[in-house]
Amino acid sequence: MHKDTIKNSIREDASEEFDILFPERFIKNTDYYNSLMMMYRCAIREVSTKLEVLDDEFSVKYKRNPISSIKSRIKTPLSIYNKLQRLGYEFTEQNIREQLNDVAGIRVICSFIDDIYAVAHLLAEQDDITIIRIKDYIQNPKPNGYRSYHMIIEIPVFFAEGKTPIRAEIQIRTIGMDFWASLEHQLRYKKDLGNNEQYALITQKLTECARTITATDNQMQDIKNLIGEYCEF
Ligand code: GTP
Ligand code: MG
Repeated sequence: MHKDTIKNSIREDASEEFDILFPERFIKNTDYYNSLMMMYRCAIREVSTKLEVLDDEFSVKYKRNPISSIKSRIKTPLSIYNKLQRLGYEFTEQNIREQLNDVAGIRVICSFIDDIYAVAHLLAEQDDITIIRIKDYIQNPKPNGYRSYHMIIEIPVFFAEGKTPIRAEIQIRTIGMDFWASLEHQLRYKKDLGNNEQYALITQKLTECARTITATDNQMQDIKNLIGEYCEF
């Protein structure tokens, strides 16, 4: 696939409203776009399999599963388009591949904080995975209270014509962190939340919740450590 093959893929009449209603009609040259997205879907499958294998091995060795669930998604065409626009890039295959790290997104939900680091470490150790960037929002939470461990990785995906390195964003978090992030994410899309004062109050309450969840996550980890002192865990 050549770098500019999807350069003119955005329809002239594409508008946000149009895309939300008919996302599949947003793209003119769907063949090139679809094969690029297929590569991202394959990368997600590769990473998901690696995670499932790690979880399986762990459950045989330690009789419990570090991963509670795995979710994944491919960025929508509008979201890709908007992000490239925001960064000042055209909608081309090269720009999608070089400028965006999160077209393929995988979210790993763990029970305990130490499971997050165990999963991240075991994944990073695999020799076909290249770590592009790590952001540890558990050690350094965002001011609003957001916590998660983020990895941008590159993984080779094998196709008939050879292998291609594909980037993916992996977010690893506890059930509690996910609970908080889901509600906070929904809040950001509520445009009719009332005046600034009400919005500030909700934001403040959410930050308080993040603190409570952090305390609970830490207590659960302490309990797990105590149990671990008495039996193999
Ligand atoms: P993006 O341009 O949003 O992808 O940000 P970035 O490139 O600086 O990456 P970062 O690692 O900070 O965040 C990437 C992703 O993490 C977001 O797309 C969200 O899924 C998640 N995230 C980051 N911050 C928050 C937050 O404050 N709240 C919630 N709910 N999710 C967040
Ligand atoms: Mg993102």
